[in-house]
Amino acid sequence: MTTDNDARYGRLDVFLHWFIGIALLAEIAFGFLLDDIAPRGTPARAGVINLHKSIGIVLGVLVILRLLWRMRHPAPPWPASVPAWQQRAAHWMHWALGACMVIMPVGGYLGSNFSKYGVRFFGIALAPWGPDLPAVYSFFLAVHDVTAYVFTALIVLHVGAAVKHAWVDRDTVFSRMLPRRRPGVPDGLRIDDTVRKEHS
Ligand code: HEM
Ligand code: HEM
Repeated sequence: MTTDNDARYGRLDVFLHWFIGIALLAEIAFGFLLDDIAPRGTPARAGVINLHKSIGIVLGVLVILRLLWRMRHPAPPWPASVPAWQQRAAHWMHWALGACMVIMPVGGYLGSNFSKYGVRFFGIALAPWGPDLPAVYSFFLAVHDVTAYVFTALIVLHVGAAVKHAWVDRDTVFSRMLPRRRPGVPDGLRIDDTVRKEHS
């Protein structure tokens, strides 16, 4: 496998990683808190669940755009210090995360179309294109629920691995997914430190 200690992700990769990653974390938390925010049978339930569905659909579209972008822009090669088994593990972990990122919105969307409630997309009623089949709805929502737990576990492992690279291995794996430093600003110095130096 090729290695390169200076290789890093592009600006759009970095933006999409953090924007979609943080939004997904919020959407997962929203999903798990749905019953606390608006218990079943209360008047607020429909509005809250449709907000979850609407945000989920937007995220699904963004995830697909990100994956299409990623297919045309391969990940940078690994730093030489990362052992081959860790490269393989990270490769499969990123695939598994990508699969969960797709299954979550697609499962929720498909399920909702086999229910008479369909989706109100930010207030606009999208009539369900499928028949009202409770068994099919339950199947897709069960996939949605199980994947939510698998996804959460993978994210915990993923964040743990990223933190290990930053704090224990102290290699470039974490920093290459951070926004690019301005040219001329040495590592370990923040931009305002440089400005302060220039003015002192
Ligand atoms: C990336 C997008 C999404 C994420 C991360 C997500 C996450 C979650 C989570 C964590 C739950 C709670 C699961 C549980 O309690 O076991 C949930 C529930 C739910 N989600 Fe999503 N969701 C997403 C997209 C969608 C979409 C697009 C729809 C439908 C259009 C949808 C419909 C639902 C419904 C109906 C429930 C409640 C299921 C129930 O009654 O138990 N979700 N979601
Ligand atoms: C919030 C804490 C997070 C941290 C600290 C973090 C950190 C990182 C780092 C450092 C990389 C680059 C690894 C490499 O060099 O290959 C990466 C890649 C990746 N992360 Fe995260 N991440 C976080 C959250 C998430 C979340 C919530 C997701 C949601 C699915 C996610 C999905 C991914 C994926 C799919 C990749 C592979 C990127 C690619 O090759 O295109 N990350 N992450």
